[in-house]
Amino acid sequence: MHIVIANDHGAVALKQEILEHLVRAGHEVKNLGVNDETSVDYPDMAIKATDEYNKGGYDLGILCCGSGIGISIAANKVSGIRCAQVFDLFTAEICRRHNDANFISLGGRVDYAVPVTAMVDAFLAAPFEGGRHQRRVDKLDAMC
Ligand code: RB5
Repeated sequence: MHIVIANDHGAVALKQEILEHLVRAGHEVKNLGVNDETSVDYPDMAIKATDEYNKGGYDLGILCCGSGIGISIAANKVSGIRCAQVFDLFTAEICRRHNDANFISLGGRVDYAVPVTAMVDAFLAAPFEGGRHQRRVDKLDAMC
């Protein structure tokens, strides 16, 4: 898959872990995040990744900040983006199946109960189910 990833200073190690995991699995990854802990603003990182995604050629995107919250809020203000802040394997999978999420967000300062790489894999593997969910996603997309 073609994946775009970005992060702020609160998630440098997390981004690196995910990036290495994806590359090892054979995915093509565009890293638009920061690679050191100099402070940056998460809305800027969200815009970088979502603008790149909206140019086309990408399957999915991943965003990381300290909590996973701010960068998700920012991404969801961009037209065409449905970013799900995920916490576990269920939310990582269901956001694809029901919400056709094209981005997930994760937090570098969050103590998750499952490995982040497992959540990423669940997100990438799950298909959108369409049907009644398509109608709801269409309504989401009409909002911005
Ligand atoms: C940065 O300190 C932090 O606020 C940011 O990474 C994120 O947690 C915001 O939601």
